[in-house]
Amino acid sequence: MHSPAPGPENKPARKAGGGAPFSTLSSMPRSIPFAASAIAPLAAALVMLCAAAPAQAQAGRDLAQQKNCLTCHGANRGVLGPGFREIAARYAGKAEAQAQLVERVLHGGVGNWGKVPMPANTQLSDADARALVTWILETR
Ligand code: HEC
Repeated sequence: MHSPAPGPENKPARKAGGGAPFSTLSSMPRSIPFAASAIAPLAAALVMLCAAAPAQAQAGRDLAQQKNCLTCHGANRGVLGPGFREIAARYAGKAEAQAQLVERVLHGGVGNWGKVPMPANTQLSDADARALVTWILETR
């Protein structure tokens, strides 16, 4: 028994392969809009996250940066002084904290957190000191 050589059947298959370059080309424009549509929701989510940060918190941070508070204080961890989050946690719910801390920020303090003193911040106006303390006490 000899099976007939499938020679004639191969020829049409090779001809069909000639369509390959065309189908590759036509798939390219489709893949580009797909990539863009995958990135768009991510970008939108980022923009929403940034907008969600209250503008007031940003203003407080800017003021702290301007007045050099951030040289010694971080939000989470202190460099020389305590972190603003630690301060907020210690004084949470204490009515007298605002006035007390305004005093300390203006005139300096020592012994409340450790042996390193905070020098008087003579560059601050009373209003700046109050704004900064309000911002610090709201740090979460
Ligand atoms: C030279 C470093 C330094 C700078 C600059 C500095 N601090 Fe301090 N700060 C400290 C240290 C150290 C303490 C801890 C003092 C203590 O133990 O009583 C402190 C404590 C504090 C406290 C807590 C005070 C208390 O009695 O619990 C607040 C609030 C504060 N700083 C706010 C500020 C603000 C606002 C600024 C910017 C105007 C500022 N600090 C700039 C070092 C600094």
